[in-house]
Amino acid sequence: MKSRIISLTLVAFTALTGNRASAQAKIDFAKDILPIFDQSCVKCHGPEKQKGKFRLDNKEALFKKDSTAVIPNDAAKSDLYRRIILPKGHEDIMPNEGEPLSKPQTDLVRDWINQGAVWPDGVVSKSASSVAPSKPKNEPLLPKDFKPGDAEAKAIAKIGQAGVDVRPVAMSVPWREANFRLQGSNITDTVIAPVKDVTSLVELNLANTKVTDAGLLAIKALPYLQRLHLELTGVTDAGLANLKGLTNLVYLNLYGTAVSDAGLEHLAGLRYLRNLYVWQSKVTEEGAAKLKKALPELSILTGWDLKSLEKKEEKPAEKSEKKEEKKEDKK
Ligand code: HEC
Repeated sequence: MKSRIISLTLVAFTALTGNRASAQAKIDFAKDILPIFDQSCVKCHGPEKQKGKFRLDNKEALFKKDSTAVIPNDAAKSDLYRRIILPKGHEDIMPNEGEPLSKPQTDLVRDWINQGAVWPDGVVSKSASSVAPSKPKNEPLLPKDFKPGDAEAKAIAKIGQAGVDVRPVAMSVPWREANFRLQGSNITDTVIAPVKDVTSLVELNLANTKVTDAGLLAIKALPYLQRLHLELTGVTDAGLANLKGLTNLVYLNLYGTAVSDAGLEHLAGLRYLRNLYVWQSKVTEEGAAKLKKALPELSILTGWDLKSLEKKEEKPAEKSEKKEEKKEDKK
């Protein structure tokens, strides 16, 4: 039941963002491009192996400094594109074994690069996320006999006035999702205040809005909330105290906020939490490790694992480089 709700939520969400994207750009990275990388490249350029020190399973790794693999808006100059269109058997062709990519696939990659090579934040390869437990043993259950409260319809109408739809996540279920992200800077703590009466919410996206700690009071008592996007908001440690009671939370995104280790301590009791995003926050490695101790099944996406991997790989490089490095170290 729950997994159906989540996947339908995703479908609804993709449909929404897909429509929006089609106005500007044809290629949908998550739908058109990432599956190609996943299928044909990530086994050699992913979490397990990084052939040629190259990774294609996440944005940071692909666009790391000095890489010429993908040069946005210029497929012709992008090494990645050059390699996938080489004739079968060429020594540089990628994938370097098995069948080359098909023409429609290489065309998609070309168009994607020429349209700016947009890799939306938070989108990662299936194999990258498979590092996390894919099927949590215990997951939150939604009650079968849920009836929305009287205040709910009024609150939904009010939110509608701000241009935000609070829509069902699937046909004939009472559960709802609300996405404020598209209204971005129009969304303030006052606008989201009525959310407190929408107890049927299972997914709430406040990313990139003007919401602050005070706004989180409105979500404090949403008993069934499973997915919460707070990335790129003004939320801080103090605000996270309001999440303590959201015990059904499975996914929380705090990317690009001022949240630090102290804030994470408020999350230690969220036993179903499985995915937490804290890149570009003030969270430290120790803070993340501490939370992970309390919640062993939690996967925390920080961005540092990539940095430390790069370091490891650089060591066994050319001998001359090694000497250089040693000199550097002594300084
Ligand atoms: C079976 C393993 C394998 C697969 C699958 C594979 N690669 Fe590679 N790739 C390599 C190896 C080995 C190297 C390093 C040697 C070289 O540069 O040719 C490499 C290097 C590269 C480089 C150069 C990296 C750099 O910065 O120097 C790019 C770009 C690349 N691969 C892209 C791809 C793409 C795109 C795919 C999928 C369409 C892919 N590879 C699939 C093994 C693989």
